[in-house]
Formats: sequence, C-alpha cells, structure tokens
Amino acid sequence: MKQPDQKEIDKAADLLRAGGLVAMPTETVYGLAADATNDKAVARIFEAKGRPQFNPLIIHVRDINMALRFVDLSPTARKLIAAFWPGPLTIVAPRREDCEISLLASAGLDTLGVRCPKHAIAQALIKSLGRPLAAPSANRSGSISPTQADHVRQSLGERVDAVLDGGPSEIGLESTIVKVEGEEIIILRPGGISAEDLQDVTGKPVLTSAKSSTIEAPGMMKSHYAPSVRVRLNATKAEPHEAFLGFANETVTAPTSLNLSPSGDLSEAAANLFAYLHQLDASCLDEGLTGIAVAPIPQKGLGIAINDRLTRAAHPDR
Ligand code: TXA
Ligand code: MG
Repeated sequence: MKQPDQKEIDKAADLLRAGGLVAMPTETVYGLAADATNDKAVARIFEAKGRPQFNPLIIHVRDINMALRFVDLSPTARKLIAAFWPGPLTIVAPRREDCEISLLASAGLDTLGVRCPKHAIAQALIKSLGRPLAAPSANRSGSISPTQADHVRQSLGERVDAVLDGGPSEIGLESTIVKVEGEEIIILRPGGISAEDLQDVTGKPVLTSAKSSTIEAPGMMKSHYAPSVRVRLNATKAEPHEAFLGFANETVTAPTSLNLSPSGDLSEAAANLFAYLHQLDASCLDEGLTGIAVAPIPQKGLGIAINDRLTRAAHPDR
C-alpha cells in the first residue's frame, strides 16, 4: 500500500472543497470521490460515471464518530463496526434527521450506506477535507471496476480532476454491504467480508437479500462489471475465438490466458479479478478474439463475491 504524500493530499482536498472530483485508492477498488455534503459535486459524480439512474452512493467516513453524525447505529451495527472498521464493510443504517449529507447521494432514501476505508490515502484525504466523501467505484457505469490508477484514467479520462495513485487495490472486490434490521443482518451485496465472518462476530443469523423480502441494493444491476467482449462462465476449455481466465492448477491451454490464482487461493483471485478482466479484454481486442471463458470458482467464502461479479459480467443484457 503506497503511503500518502501530504502536499498532494491537501491539494486534492482543496479540489474537493471547490466541488471537484478526485479518484482515490481504497483497499477494495478505486473510488470517485466528492464532498458528500455538496449537492452539485455529488451530481457531477453521476454525470462523470454516466450512471443511468440515481443509485445511492456509499459515504466514506474517518471513523464511527463521523458516521454517528449522519446515521443511527444499532448495537449490532456497532459490533460489526468494532470488528471490521476500517475495512471493506458498508453498513446501511437510518439517516439522522439533521444529517447534512446531500439527499442526492442517498437517492432520496431514508437510509445511508456508510463505510470507513482502510487505505492510508483515503483516510488521509477524509482527514484533510474534514468532511465525508461520497464515492462510487471510479469507472464508467456498467464497466469493469478499477483496481489501479491507470484503470481510472482509461475509464474516466478528463472527467476527473485528479487521480491519487495508491498502487493496486489490496482486496480487489467492492465492500460487503449489509443492512441491520432488528436482530437480522441482511447482505445486500457480497464482498470482501463473508457471511461466515459476519456471523462469527455477531452470533446473529445472516441472510442474503435474495432470501429476505424485497430489500436490495438498488445499484445491483444484472449486467455490470462487463468487459467489451462476451464472458462465458464455468468453462472447462477455451474455444478458438476465446481467451481463458483460469483458477487453480487446471490444464486448459489457450494462447491468451491468465490464472487468477494457480494455488487456488480465493483472496489472491479476488485481488486479481478486475485487473485480469481489464487485461484480457484489451488482449481480445488486439488479437481479434470475441470472448473470455472463465474457469469455475468454488462457491464459498470470497468465491461467493467473485461469482457474483462474474455472473453480472457474463449477463447477456447489455
Ligand atoms: O468498496 C466499495 O464499496 C467501493 C469503494 C469505492 O468504497 N464503492 C462502491 O460503490 O462499490 P458503488 O457506488 O459502485 O456501489 C454502491 C452500492 C450500490 O449498489 C448502491 O445501490 C448501494 O451501494 N447502496 C448505497 N447506499 C445504499 C442504501 N442506502 N441502501 C441500499 N443500498 C445502498
Ligand atoms: Mg461500481
């Protein structure tokens, strides 16, 4: 993890204070940040991403004390925060009545998703600004999430006022989003922290949104994270027109291939996922290939979040 350069951080904070957009590294993926209390700046995020509808944005805070200025946190939510902040966990909680966060950022909902990022540069930026940051992933809507500063520059170009380079994202998958309702914890989006981790810490049942009534993260589109070429899942071999994205020590050979983790380590696979999709997509375009075949990934632990992203990347509706 690259450490912050204070001069660069303070300059970026000045841009944010003036209503600008700054791409910042986090341990999950790069975020496109704006001052969460500034309506115009938040509106610019939607414009820069080309987000088709006003999906609510995650609000990045320094610590639980900053979060408590904006949301009410139940005892179970506090337990989760004590265990996983700073880190890849977003908590959806009721907005306080006196909450100063732009209504556009939470898309008019009476809840807010709050997260405290672990990356030293994201932390330093929030500290220097002294305000919370609204930040979705720093990519054009629907495309592959960015895990390197170059991915951001390629996707957003001039639409962003500054890009802070913090090296490759350590986790590589977006945060786990949970809503705590009474005694129940509902996973709205699988991510860097698994259902087992959440259950271990709280001793409470953990549901996924598919199993709970109608609640979902509104931004969970069926087609998302998509490369420009087609993605085919659970492939045991690559067709001649396909590149191959492998996992563990399989024997598939394809002229253009990468392996998410030769040793079958799901954390390593998560960290490589988006960067390898970016890389294979570019190779396909160069070499005239029309698809990416992806090996099966075990549906356990972090594999659940990896398969969630891959299923959306492979969805035929674009
Ligand atoms: O790791 C991450 O979470 C990254 C980094 C930059 O922090 N951010 C990220 O943001 O993935 P984004 O905008 O790509 O995804 C935010 C998701 C969307 O699916 C949105 O619908 C959901 O969070 N969300 C935000 N606020 C919500 C709320 N109040 N209720 C339900 N879902 C919410
Ligand atoms: Mg995103």
